[in-house]
Parts: sequence; C-alpha cells; structure tokens
Amino acid sequence: MEPVKGDGSHKEMNQDPAKLSLSNFIAGESRDPLEAPPTFTRWMQAGAWAVELYEPELLASADARTTIDYNGRPRSVINLCSYNYLGLANHPEVVAAAHGALKTHGLGACGSPMLSGMTDLHRELEQRVAEFLGREDAMLFNSGFGGALGTISGLLRKNDVAVLDNRSHLSLRDGAVLSRCRTEKFEHNDPASLDAALRRHAGRRQLVIVEGIYSMDGDFGHLDELIDVADAHGARIFVDEAHSMLACGEKGRGAAEKFGVEDRVPLIYGTFSKAFGALGGFVAGSKETLRYLRFYAHPYVYSCALPPVVVAGILKALEIGRREPELRTRLWENANYFHQKLRELGIDTGKSTTYIMPIVIGDRERMYRLCHELRRRGLWVAPVDYPAVPQNKICFRACVTAKHTRADLDEALNILGDTLKGDSKVKSAAFRLRCKMSELALRMSS
Ligand SMILES: Cc1ncc(COP(=O)(O)O)c(C=O)c1O
Repeated sequence: MEPVKGDGSHKEMNQDPAKLSLSNFIAGESRDPLEAPPTFTRWMQAGAWAVELYEPELLASADARTTIDYNGRPRSVINLCSYNYLGLANHPEVVAAAHGALKTHGLGACGSPMLSGMTDLHRELEQRVAEFLGREDAMLFNSGFGGALGTISGLLRKNDVAVLDNRSHLSLRDGAVLSRCRTEKFEHNDPASLDAALRRHAGRRQLVIVEGIYSMDGDFGHLDELIDVADAHGARIFVDEAHSMLACGEKGRGAAEKFGVEDRVPLIYGTFSKAFGALGGFVAGSKETLRYLRFYAHPYVYSCALPPVVVAGILKALEIGRREPELRTRLWENANYFHQKLRELGIDTGKSTTYIMPIVIGDRERMYRLCHELRRRGLWVAPVDYPAVPQNKICFRACVTAKHTRADLDEALNILGDTLKGDSKVKSAAFRLRCKMSELALRMSS
C-alpha cells in the first residue's frame, strides 16, 4: 500500500525506537484505514520484550497472591496489580450470590435497559446505591468507562464548558469530546488555575470535573478547595469516585464522604470494577436529572445492560462493604504500612497518599527492565508509560488491598528493595546494547 502523500509521518522510520511513544503513531500512513501504520508494527517488534508485559494472563482469581502466565509458564506472584481493594471479587458470599442469579436469571441481560435488559436485580441495585449514597435515584452502566462517557456527553451541550483537572481519566475527557462542548483544563488540584479557567468562560454553563482519587498518581482530589472555587463562579461539580467508592470514607461513600462535601456534590459517579470487585458503573443524583440522562446517555440507551449475574454479585459486595467497615480499616492500614516502608527504602511514590502507589522510575527502559525482573522474582506490578503519565513520571504502579497480609507486603518490599538496589548501570548498558541490536536487525530485514 502506497503511503499517503504529504502525510509526513514517515519520519518515525528513522528514529531511535526507544525515543518513540504511542503518541507518534496517530497519523494515517497509508490509504488503507484498516492497516496498522507500518512504523507502529516495526516499533512494536523492536520493543516486543517490553510489550509482552501488557495484557498478562491471569490463571486464577485477582487475589492478593495469584498465578499469572510468565514466559509461557505459570508463575506464582504477589499481586500488586489489582483494583480488588477490599477482596470482594472472590469473596465466597459474592461468588454464591452470582451463582444463585445464574440459575434464576441466566447469563446475560440480552438487551438495553431501556427496552428489555432491565431486571428486578438491576432495579434493586439502583435503589440500594441511591439509598447508600443518600440520593433520590441511581442508574447503572455496563462499564465504568461508558458511565463516565455517557454522563458527561449526556448532560453537556455545544455551548457548555467542561473544565477538567489535567490528570483526568480519559473516559471523562472523551465524554466532553463526544458532547462537542468546549473543554478547558486546569493544573492538577490547583484552585488558582481552576479559577482562571472558569473566568475565561464566564457566563456559560460550566461543569468542573475532578476525581476522588487519581488513578495514576494515587493522590486525593482537593475537593473542598475546588468546590469553593466552582461555587464562587456558579459552576457545577462532577466527582469521579471510581477508585474511592466503597474503599474510602468511614461508611465507604468515597472521597466526598471523607472530606465532608457530599451535600455539595449533586451528582456522584463511581464504578463497580474496583472496590466492588465486579464490572460496571453508576451515577447517583436527583430523580429528574437521571430521568433526563436515561434518554440521552448513549452508552445507557444503546448498549446491553449489565449481566444479572454481575448485578447479583455487586448487590452482595455492597452489602458486605457496608456491613464490614473493618475491610476499609485493613486496606488503609496496609496502604500506610506500605508507604512508610517504601519511604524507608528511599523509593519515590510521587504524591500518592492512598493504596494506589506509582513507583516512579522516570526512565522507560529501566522501568520495563525492572518490571520483568520483578515478575521473575514473583512480584506483579503494572507498567505505566508515557503518554499515560508524563515522561519524567514513567513508573510502575502498585496497589495494595485489604487482603494482603503483612507477610505478603514484607515479601513484596524485600523483592522491590533487592531489585531496585541490584539494578546497576552495567545492566542498563547491556540492555541498551540489546535494544540497538534488535533495532539494527529490524532495519536490515526491512
Ligand atoms: C478514574 C477512572 N474513571 C473511570 C474509569 C473507568 O472504569 P471501568 O474500568 O470500570 O470501565 C477508570 C478505570 O480505571 C478510572 O480510573
């Protein structure tokens, strides 16, 4: 296939693959939109050893210790990769509830909630979520991503402004893009920057979009200060509690509960894929707003409802999360312990103050090499590369859960300490040589 004339994207062909990132391959290179850009394919081949860290195969449940496939063989690992914060994904009562629903309701919902996918279990979950959060109503989405995207795009219009923290999740940004509204960004957690952003669009309807806990940095949104600024401008606020719901706040009602601002947040959004250990998203708020949203959120109207099996599991997870606050206590004790020990090891966790901890490496090659070494030694962490984070914040991310024992955490710390200490410049040079050689081999073969 001939390249598209004047496209200019072929400059990537001659660049050092180690200097490229996913942001380099978004221009089409040929006349066939179904063909992957050839430079991307070559880049992937050159970095195959790093790419193989993605989409790892889990051979068991997302428990604190689990088994993954590593290099074609089962590998027992301490799991610092999972959002199963309270251990509910594999809780026996949750599993039993899902089994029960499988018998009564079958596997799938087989239709949009609007037409045929709504069941008595879905309705019960809506009511339970609304009651849990002290709201008039709640609606469910079949994914957290779809919930955020659908809520933002379902409520904002062309002349509105979405004012997003610059560390916002892509589902929120994509929601704003889909709504075709104007978007503004403000510096992460910075009230002065938010103030300036709101001033630029005075007179328009504005929605300030923030998160309870940021998924990459593991820090809290500064909700009270940011809400003060939004209020001063007559702007509304939307809080994404994906990572904080059920895991944070005395009763589990998220960061808004923890910071005492629940009554200042009219619409609250969360996911069931993190502390609930399941799948899906929800938004809770006033009956009138949600009745409108039910008809305008495309991922709600035009996509199949959550499987009833999953809904039954979530109902049980919510019940346990409310009944057993000690799960949250354990989660936070584990998080604080792990933070303290990482600090003692001199490991940089950026701004994190929660159970999500980026272990900042700031160098792509080194990060991938360390990730491999950690898996070899039985510690499973997730690679986080640019453009998901800025280049100097390239890291691997560790999440602790309530299910980790002190022995799990201590072993993880030993592996981390040893691996980071043993990672010498000599290894780094050997690695670079290996990269250069595979790059050369590729050039010669093309
Ligand atoms: C902040 C935030 N919002 C929304 C989502 C989307 O949620 P889900 O994975 O349930 O689709 C995520 C996913 O990790 C997230 O981190």
